Amino acid sequence: MNVYDSERIASLMRSEGYEAAGGIENADLVVINTCTIRAKAEQKVYSLLGRLSAIKRKRPGLIIAVGGCIAQQEGRAMINRVPAVDIVFGTHAVGRFPRLMRQVERTGRRLVDIDMQDVIDEIGCAGKFQANRPVSAFVTIMQGCDNFCTYCVVPYVRGREMSRTPEAVLDEVRFLVSEGVREVTLLGQNVNSYGQKENYPAFSELLARVNQVDGLKRIRFTTSHPKDLSDQLIDSFQKLDKLCSHIHLPVQSGSDRILKRMNRRYTRDDYLRKVEKLRRAVPDIAITSDFIVGFPGETEDDFQQSLQLIREVEYDSLFAFQYSDRPNAPAAKFSEKLDESQISDRLQDLLALQEKNTYEKNKKLVGAVQPVLVEGYSKKGGDSDSEVPAQWTGRTSSHKIVNFTPNMDENSRYEDLTGKMVNLIIEKAFSHSLIGRIEPSGTIPLGSKGENNYAA
Ligand code: 5AD
Ligand code: SF4
Repeated sequence: MNVYDSERIASLMRSEGYEAAGGIENADLVVINTCTIRAKAEQKVYSLLGRLSAIKRKRPGLIIAVGGCIAQQEGRAMINRVPAVDIVFGTHAVGRFPRLMRQVERTGRRLVDIDMQDVIDEIGCAGKFQANRPVSAFVTIMQGCDNFCTYCVVPYVRGREMSRTPEAVLDEVRFLVSEGVREVTLLGQNVNSYGQKENYPAFSELLARVNQVDGLKRIRFTTSHPKDLSDQLIDSFQKLDKLCSHIHLPVQSGSDRILKRMNRRYTRDDYLRKVEKLRRAVPDIAITSDFIVGFPGETEDDFQQSLQLIREVEYDSLFAFQYSDRPNAPAAKFSEKLDESQISDRLQDLLALQEKNTYEKNKKLVGAVQPVLVEGYSKKGGDSDSEVPAQWTGRTSSHKIVNFTPNMDENSRYEDLTGKMVNLIIEKAFSHSLIGRIEPSGTIPLGSKGENNYAA
């Protein structure tokens, strides 16, 4: 989500005539886009601001702006604490950023804008002026969250849930495809409740419309709250040829007691039933998840239930986070906090278990043919000036990275495969990637029937 917002900010500034500086040394403006989801984010931002302050002492013309969740949370306190900061702009102020910049340039006065709005900040297509557009792009379909999980800061720093109109989403997807994008990932904190407040078509209907965009090859989305994972969405995996066979379904804990304290509003059984439905609909669907380890009050038994859930579900991969307090989040006030070393031991155990599972899952793909969307090359061959790619890289429908060596044509030239679908035979598995070889049938032409036949 933050990558997307950073691109929106960059696009807006490009449209104002700014260009990427390539490094802080040459920059007239530095924008830091912050996120508070990860631990110690505040410390990292203030330490970066310390380094930027030193640069500004030598070059007083440098403008320093801070946006995103930490800006929203800190507001005026940040301006007061760091005299070198010129602009603090919150999560709802991205669209106003160019105006704030012009004001600072004109008046030299420092500004804070952390106003929240109750209409979505629709600034048109993100990345309109982006150079070197990648094959795969993000499209935000909603912002904010109404779920109030007790550990989470998002509802406080990103505000209430609001959805973009289906037309705005489709316009952006069509624009991106016209610019060469072949895969979109629709983004929201909980895409399953897309448009419910606004009475827009349901998320499954939005997916069906995106599926009709000519030239688009793949659709992904993230994130789905398990409590809202509907049967219609599960059906979409069967019905929509472009929808990839992968779902990120964060569970956070395998213990009902902890899930309740987290205010997740589903039980371990509810979750397992949804997993079963998904697998019944699409047997080879890849399922990934997020876990929080060491939530206040988590006993050894609760933790073992998380490990047991991981064994039962057999995730393709997962993200695991050590619990840490977030300002304003209710769990920050919960008693029974665990100590750091215990949390980090549990995290290591959980990651070790998953590492084994991921490798096992990857090994099962050896020998299978997988359609892969090529994202670019991962290595150039020969000397460093060589234009010849030694290894291409792309992803399977299940989101696994595959590297492969290209075939040469009859003139001993390599075709540029970026943005193309290729059928690869998987030859080798590692824990974080696969190695493939191009199937003799070669690339799959755009528009051909086999193109999106992922559910092999
Ligand atoms: N501590 C640890 N992990 C957290 N996450 C969100 N808030 C916290 C917190 N306070 C994790 C959740 C979420 C992911 C994006 O970040 O697992 O799904
Ligand atoms: Fe945070 Fe829960 Fe909303 Fe996800 S669903 S953003 S964890 S409050």
